[in-house]
Amino acid sequence: MDAETRRELRRRRTFAIISHPDAGKTTITEKILLFGGAIQLAGAVKAKKQQRSARSDWIAVEKERGISVSTSVMSFEFSDHALNLLDTPGHNDFSEDTYRTLTAVDSVLMVIDATKGVEAQTKKLLEVCRLKKTPVITFMNKLDLEARDPLALLENVEEELGMSAVPFTWPIGSGKRFKGVYDLRDKTVNFYAPGAKRGEKGDREVIEDLADVRIEALVGEQLADGLREGVELLEVAGDTFDETAFGRGQQTPVFFGSALNNFGVRELLETFCELAPAPQPRETRDRVVMPEEDAFSGFVFKIQANMDPKHRDRMAFLRVVSGRFRRGIKLQHVRTGKPMIVRNAMTFFARDRAIVEEAWPGDIIGIPNHGTIRIADTFSEGEEMVFTGVPNFAPELFRRARLKDPMKLKALQKGLEHVCEEGAAQLFRPIIGSEYVIGALGQLQFEVIEARLRDEYRVDAAFESTRYQVCRWVRFDEEVEGAMSPAEFEDKWTKDCYRDAGDRLCLLTETRFRADYVAENSPGVTLTQTVELA
Ligand code: G4P
Repeated sequence: MDAETRRELRRRRTFAIISHPDAGKTTITEKILLFGGAIQLAGAVKAKKQQRSARSDWIAVEKERGISVSTSVMSFEFSDHALNLLDTPGHNDFSEDTYRTLTAVDSVLMVIDATKGVEAQTKKLLEVCRLKKTPVITFMNKLDLEARDPLALLENVEEELGMSAVPFTWPIGSGKRFKGVYDLRDKTVNFYAPGAKRGEKGDREVIEDLADVRIEALVGEQLADGLREGVELLEVAGDTFDETAFGRGQQTPVFFGSALNNFGVRELLETFCELAPAPQPRETRDRVVMPEEDAFSGFVFKIQANMDPKHRDRMAFLRVVSGRFRRGIKLQHVRTGKPMIVRNAMTFFARDRAIVEEAWPGDIIGIPNHGTIRIADTFSEGEEMVFTGVPNFAPELFRRARLKDPMKLKALQKGLEHVCEEGAAQLFRPIIGSEYVIGALGQLQFEVIEARLRDEYRVDAAFESTRYQVCRWVRFDEEVEGAMSPAEFEDKWTKDCYRDAGDRLCLLTETRFRADYVAENSPGVTLTQTVELA
């Protein structure tokens, strides 16, 4: 590895921001992009979000897809680091892409609304991080509102997310009485000034010893006592920061602030650059690939349809795992065995895309294609390697497509297959019968598919609900005594058995109870909520 590659590797941070809707992800993303010089104007990200939520017709859906192409990855520089921020759609457009994006990052910034604590969507996303042992840094947001007690918030993280929470800053009051935070490492009080421009460093005061009476003068008696008490309790009962536990996703550093008022965001980003890992190794079926390796390798974690419905081209988002990408590089598309000269790969800035000349591990490049590239595909410089770890997740909403014109069945099936290949929804075929079931995580996916079937495949179809609520993949273990064979399983539970697009057997049921019942009555069978694609 040459010196330049080593330097580029060391300064890269590839991450995602996760939160429950309304916790402040858009606001914080905007502040971070402003620091990175990736956008010039406050309000730019917000405007996109508003466009996104105005989606009453096909044009809006189209726009949404277009916008999400350009915001899928945002690359920018901050204090000599090259940051790649991957978007995890979270409102109505919550989809499997949101989950799978988390397989392409090396760390995660978690935003929690401090007036509420950990909420449902954060919990779901954190499960994926835990599976991957992804390091998480936490930002407790909205301290300018009446927030929950900071110790209670830390406990809440520990209980709900199963990782210990170690504060790096400590809030002094909240809501109307919010005075700022005490930086526990620098022993400095950072004073809160609402609406600080571009997160300039506001007033600070070094206070080595919290017994110092200057604190009373600075924040008042009551808050001074509260601060001392909180910090004392932390010293007695709190965990100390442990880099290894953080690296394994077992411990999260916690910061307090207010994204809207740009308070605490710069400090968060600075510490993030310091703590978050550089590009990490990834596993293939046979070995672990290190980012320092000379040969190029990478995997596809997301496919996005083009904005223009007349062209069926797609963008495959590839995470570089090892080596150095150079424009015109000859790569092997491992699944098809075909060589491919990549001249038109794209890289993404906040607003613009550009042809990639060079890329390093941790970077995300977009490869335009006409449907030959699929989610979880590996690209290498010849080695027959297959990256693992890009899974399908069990959908939670299940619909059937009803045709207005029954003669269009073939076109419907083709359209559904194509659209589902992009990964936002999954297609299930019953083992007997022919009526496909479409599974997704968010309602918007069905609207997008309906509109695309109409516009791209000339098929008028409407989605109607099914009795299904639960999807599980079926795994057989022949080693278990009296284990059921796949044929026996299909015979016994025929009406619940389906196959996914990769021909894997799965079970669709009305209740979790029913799925558990099937598992208990099928020796040697395990039902799983995720399945590896590669
Ligand atoms: P999201 O992407 O996670 O869904 O959240 P978003 O940033 O859009 O924030 C949700 C709402 O919370 C917004 O208000 C936003 O202004 C507000 N917010 C974000 N950070 C803070 C904070 O630190 N303090 C306070 N008080 N509010 C915060 P909104 O009314 O939905 O939108 P807008 O009218 O402000 O645009």
